[in-house]
Amino acid sequence: EQIYVGVDIGGTAIKVGICNQSGDLLHTYEGPTESDKGTDVILHNIATYAKRIVEQSPYEWEQVGGVGVGIAGFLDIPNGFVKFSPNLGLRDVRLKDYLEEHLNKTVRINNDANVAALGEVWAGAGKGVDHCVCYTLGTGVGGGIIVNGKIYEGFNGMAGELGHMQIVPDLEAIQCGCGKMGCLETVSSATGIIRMAKDAVERGDRTSLSLVEHIMAKEVIDAAKAGDEVASRIVNRAAYYLGKSMASVAVVLNPQRFIVGGGVSKAGEFLFEQIRQEFRKYTPDAIAENVEIVAATLGNDAGVVGAAGLILRS
Ligand code: BGC
Ligand code: NA
Ligand code: ZN
Repeated sequence: EQIYVGVDIGGTAIKVGICNQSGDLLHTYEGPTESDKGTDVILHNIATYAKRIVEQSPYEWEQVGGVGVGIAGFLDIPNGFVKFSPNLGLRDVRLKDYLEEHLNKTVRINNDANVAALGEVWAGAGKGVDHCVCYTLGTGVGGGIIVNGKIYEGFNGMAGELGHMQIVPDLEAIQCGCGKMGCLETVSSATGIIRMAKDAVERGDRTSLSLVEHIMAKEVIDAAKAGDEVASRIVNRAAYYLGKSMASVAVVLNPQRFIVGGGVSKAGEFLFEQIRQEFRKYTPDAIAENVEIVAATLGNDAGVVGAAGLILRS
């Protein structure tokens, strides 16, 4: 039996999984990224964890049909390198070459959100849907475009960077990690929600929010659900720009389904209803009519499953 190894590289942890040909996740392993220790340590960790998961499983290294890797940031996919990953502190890293050398297997790399999108169409909320667009709402806002059942990569691998869609008007815009002003990520990521909450507390707005140092996006969402007006405004702003950005994506790509994952999506229907409302407000009816906006179902596993899927499905 052939198995496929998927690697999901996040800022704090590297998750590894073994999948079979149907996308069933058979084994998982997780270790620290140690992104603060620099490029060499990160690369070494990726290779080590990929080998270790197979050692700890009932499978042999000979059965590995390939290793797929999802990583946040702007990638040059045809050349297999990471051009710039602000969240991991990587610049111009030959990731594919390094791993092929150290693992002696076919390696495919792709963007973390592209890979999550592939995981969802393979085994999650997008099963059987050939045209869909995925958003991941976490530290950043990731995007993955699935066209005809495959990841759409664009000219050199940077298609689907939906978090950097220009959407916040200049007068309200703040700078994004990519260096530009007004990106979707600045308002609709967990980081964006936390920043807006801190700003509100510092301004002295009347709110139940207070833990200025350690506040989490979940607390802001919970406060909004409980009726806190300031928190509601913040969550609504995140949903507003998200729904509006989907309107732009819909007129360009005519997807059948939007799938939203990442920590913030755990807010559930409370958030989704707002997103759908904004989407319908800004999308021509003929296009909006048949579009579904749903939650991702693979949760934290979407990355490793989709990464393993890079070998089988691209
Ligand atoms: C990066 C994307 C990534 C997303 C989610 C963004 O800031 O530009 O490449 O997919 O964060 O991790
Ligand atoms: Na992407
Ligand atoms: Zn940006």
